[in-house]
Amino acid sequence: MARLSFQVQHTDSTTSARAGVITTDHGQIETPIFMPVGTVGSVKAVAQQQLLNDVKAQIILGNTYHLYLRPGTDVLEQAGGLHRFNHWERPILTDSGGYQVFSLAGTRKIKEEGVTFQSHIDGSKHLFTPERVMDIQRSIGGDIIMAFDECPPGGSEYGYARKSMELTHRWLDRCVAQFNATPDKYGYTQNLFPIVQGATYKDLRKQSCEYIASKDAPGNAIGGLSVGEPEPVMYEICDWCCQLLPKDKPRYLMGVGTPWNILECIGMGVDMFDCVMPTRNGRNAMLFTTQGVINIDNKKWEYDFSPIDEELPCEMSRYYSKAYLRHLFKAGEILALTIASVHNLCFYLWLVGEARKHIIAGDYATWKNEMIIKLKTRL
Ligand code: GUN
Repeated sequence: MARLSFQVQHTDSTTSARAGVITTDHGQIETPIFMPVGTVGSVKAVAQQQLLNDVKAQIILGNTYHLYLRPGTDVLEQAGGLHRFNHWERPILTDSGGYQVFSLAGTRKIKEEGVTFQSHIDGSKHLFTPERVMDIQRSIGGDIIMAFDECPPGGSEYGYARKSMELTHRWLDRCVAQFNATPDKYGYTQNLFPIVQGATYKDLRKQSCEYIASKDAPGNAIGGLSVGEPEPVMYEICDWCCQLLPKDKPRYLMGVGTPWNILECIGMGVDMFDCVMPTRNGRNAMLFTTQGVINIDNKKWEYDFSPIDEELPCEMSRYYSKAYLRHLFKAGEILALTIASVHNLCFYLWLVGEARKHIIAGDYATWKNEMIIKLKTRL
């Protein structure tokens, strides 16, 4: 069983976009890729068969914070890891909890040792240290596991951002030491990705990219973006980080974003994305389509019996009509959540697949610019 590898197959001539293949012990991932978020080991409202056959997902995410609190590492270990537990036999990435502890938990306290927090489920108190988070992610068994980081809130001032980044770097050293000191639990290789922080400050981001790159990890992540900063700032920092991170390793932009964010950031050299947007917005009746954005709740769709999206190679999107899906939402039927989530995920996976084709064909920049105008249209 082998460490994750990355082959860049084609680099675009007018942008920094690349098409590549990531190889893990649970199979290959064609990049650029979007990773559906399966917080508690389940992509909300979507069955694994639908992820595989309809969405054509190649890798999904799990969250350390949630899986540690419920069902807990004992259950996951006895199951033989998350792949066996949820029966997703393809690659899995787990986020470290560095972000969820700050966005979800009750009262929390950051110290050098780690973060103490209260469970959002029952208020119980817990401590996450870099070592503990490595051990938990070893037990969950993701193919890619993330370093424990602090994601400072959007708009953080320079002094706080610097201290927070330095803490994230010290935590990274402890993550690497613990990761290297512990064996793979389930017979396949796990891979640790470090995370760049530094808020919106270019000098901090540069320091962080250089520090992260010095670890020679099989892949690198950009964190701390899309946390409230203006979109042009997110683009500027993402572009800056991509220029500084190694070319021969996959770059993962965490928690981003809209379809147009993804196309712009692919153009900067990002290879991997995750975001709750297709599933969360889908559950709130917002659909992303090849023609633009639809609020399916709107009266406008009451008598529209055309397919949700006939240009998408997805059975759900072609099979059900807009009027029917609107009716399901209005009636509070749970099937609405499944159709909307599967459709939006199909759209995201289709979009990165098209991006890949256009990178290889050599017309990525023109395709992207035309596509973004279309995708932003409010229907
Ligand atoms: N998800 C979105 N942003 C972040 C981040 O900065 N850190 C982590 N660990 N996860 C994220």
